Amino acid sequence: MTTSMTTTNTLFGGSMMSPIVDPYPVYKRLRDEQPAIAVNTMMGVNYMITRFDDVLTILKDGKTFSSHANARGIGIVMGRTILEMEGKEHVRHRNIIAPFFGPRAMKADMPEVVGRIVHGLIDQFAPDGAADLVQQLTFTFPMQVMATIIGIPVSDYHAFHRMALDLISVGDDPPRGFQAANDLVAFLTPLMEHRRAEPANDLLSKLAHAEVEGARLTGEEVLSFLRLLLPAGAETTYRLTGSCLYALLEHPEVYEEVRADRTAIGALIQETLRWESPVQFVSREPTADVEISGCPVPAGAMLSVVVGSANRDERHYAEPDRFDLHRENDDHLAFGFGEHFCAGSHLALLEARVALNALLDRLPNLRLDRSRECHVVGLAFRSPDHLPVLFDHA
Ligand code: HEM
Repeated sequence: MTTSMTTTNTLFGGSMMSPIVDPYPVYKRLRDEQPAIAVNTMMGVNYMITRFDDVLTILKDGKTFSSHANARGIGIVMGRTILEMEGKEHVRHRNIIAPFFGPRAMKADMPEVVGRIVHGLIDQFAPDGAADLVQQLTFTFPMQVMATIIGIPVSDYHAFHRMALDLISVGDDPPRGFQAANDLVAFLTPLMEHRRAEPANDLLSKLAHAEVEGARLTGEEVLSFLRLLLPAGAETTYRLTGSCLYALLEHPEVYEEVRADRTAIGALIQETLRWESPVQFVSREPTADVEISGCPVPAGAMLSVVVGSANRDERHYAEPDRFDLHRENDDHLAFGFGEHFCAGSHLALLEARVALNALLDRLPNLRLDRSRECHVVGLAFRSPDHLPVLFDHA
């Protein structure tokens, strides 16, 4: 296997953040012909890894494939976060936030919090008989939920949302990403100082007073945590919920089945995570020279581990491009795998479930407005850009 160099533009005909509609034929070709390939990107040379088995092997083996790669990637704007930490340090820091996002928290008051926010937004368009569910619901509600959990004034969530999205666009627009990182610090620092003086019952207070091995987190550590959590909570779940709705409304037989049996919503969400993984790749670096599917990769190289391609690998899934509510293997890698498995997965699943149930309850005969365009788009992150729908009046 050679390591011939190409660029993301040559491969996909666009940049990493541009609205690419269908990267899957390219991923199929790469899986068949060059499952590990060196690609020139705006952030330097990346090796794209596209087969399920390789992706799983890499994510399972944190010693050989270090997540420290994130320090050179998203860490340049987020600061030092648990994404790049390893071993005991990673576990200790991850444990600080775990109680806020674990199964117990999801059973306590979170269903009520999410339900209140979702229904409040649906109230605003339910009488209209038509809506864009991305603009009017899915884009907005996860950020409001995160703002509530963190303890940011909900009236400020618009500003936070903009900053969170600008932050993670750093690969495409570095000045905008760095500006957002600075703006977030300016915005969050007084809030953090206020919680240090007067703790409340929120995640910001918990972080502001958290200790690791007897030492309180520094201001920079608290701010880095927040610069990770804001986009992690805002950018991902909105994409999952939008793609679930797209899958539901594009496949009338799926809609009928889920409408008749709401327990199928769990399968709908899991199959959507596989079929249109909201986060398409994660970063790792080998700690020694390695060979991946016959391709030599030097120690310290940047790996783009493409979970979105792994989840469509025909070597692992029968008819991977088909949306199948009854698929037997639900072992997708959309939340990652191993030590860094998504810390917010329970929240993401709860949010998607609450939003889907609320829409099915409140918008009878929900259907896509076929007179308007709507596609799932994106390369690094994917979801529908719009979801124009029609429904009967309740
Ligand atoms: C559908 C929604 C989501 C998807 C697809 C998703 C995806 C992922 C993936 C793939 C990783 C692994 C990164 C790696 O291995 O390098 C990850 C980690 C993480 N996610 Fe999520 N995520 C979602 C929602 C959320 C939410 C709602 C939160 C809110 C707290 C969150 C917080 C995190 C954190 C803190 C990590 C880092 C975990 C660690 O390094 O130990 N995610 N996520």
